[in-house]
Amino acid sequence: MGKKILVTGGLGFIGSHTVVALQERGFEVVIIDNLSNSSLDVLGGITKITKISPEFENIDLRDKAAVSDFFEKYPNIEGVIHFAASKAVGESVENPLLYYENNLNTLIYLLQQLQEREDSKFIFSSSCTVYGQADELPITESAPVKKAESPYGNTKQIGEEIIADTCKVKKNLHAISLRYFNPIGAHPSANIGELPIGTPQNLVPFITQTAIGKREKLSVFGNDYPTPDGTCIRDYIHVMDLARAHVVALERLLEGEQTSNYEVFNLGTGKGNSVLEAIKAFEKVSETKLSYTITNRREGDITAAYADTRKANEVLKWEAEYNIEDALESAWKWQLHLKEKEEGIQ
Ligand code: WQD
Repeated sequence: MGKKILVTGGLGFIGSHTVVALQERGFEVVIIDNLSNSSLDVLGGITKITKISPEFENIDLRDKAAVSDFFEKYPNIEGVIHFAASKAVGESVENPLLYYENNLNTLIYLLQQLQEREDSKFIFSSSCTVYGQADELPITESAPVKKAESPYGNTKQIGEEIIADTCKVKKNLHAISLRYFNPIGAHPSANIGELPIGTPQNLVPFITQTAIGKREKLSVFGNDYPTPDGTCIRDYIHVMDLARAHVVALERLLEGEQTSNYEVFNLGTGKGNSVLEAIKAFEKVSETKLSYTITNRREGDITAAYADTRKANEVLKWEAEYNIEDALESAWKWQLHLKEKEEGIQ
């Protein structure tokens, strides 16, 4: 069997796609998930794709003793990819302590275990949100980290600092932070995808739920931004490209290729698309007409963000292979699959 890798939050959106990519690469995966924002159905979806059922531990990483017990039970974990965290920007404003406890205590408890081991490999799920509204576009990894617009964004900034400070003194800890731009899409098999609980906060699940008839219409949050069509610009990256990047980053750590024991990479396509362009692309791939209305701006939104991908291209030898239409098509196929499942057609 291949090297054993712990994936926390492995039943989540990006986590589940990364588990599939790891298994397909020959790694043996153990998932920790507390099912607070996912479901055991996802384990079935992963297994349907790879025919390998990952080991699963229903653990809440806020339980320090449970984290320690886990590493007792699994002494031969060779790498950790840490996705488990709360990620709703708006919710973090309403309930900051939930975010600081869940996103930071869990990171600290994991690192306390890893720093005691002879040689630890750790990948952290970070976000372009750390840049806020960057002064220059496209955004490079050396762009300044700005005061976060939300407790959620702050937990990503603080999380990165915690890892960097630990790596400075613990040379046995080898870590990479991956700053995702806007993850969208689903596995081409439509067996796994994004599963927002309640009203989707993010654009693409709201688009697909509107198109399928679960939502009456999409609100476009403002068209008076200083952009060509007035709507915000983002770098929408296919979750399959993102999953593959995690495997590449893990192999870099396992093969000891790092120049320093802490590195940061942007993960995006390098291309920005506006909300209206995303809507048009969706209408094209889904052959539907989307019902939407222009409303006021959403508090905290930045005008534009898209990645300078050169560092990941050159150092990780990774680049996004899918474009926004591919990603939107896969998101639509996944939404259609969910509808069939709800109607018991599956
Ligand atoms: C994208 C664009 C909205 C919904 C956040 C986090 C980031 C990551 C992804 C976790 C914006 C517009 C949206 C809607 C709209 N989260 N929009 N109507 O805010 O760029 O990024 O989610 O990993 O860290 O910061 O993503 O999808 O919410 O919004 O007009 O109903 O779509 O204004 O311009 P965002 P988003």
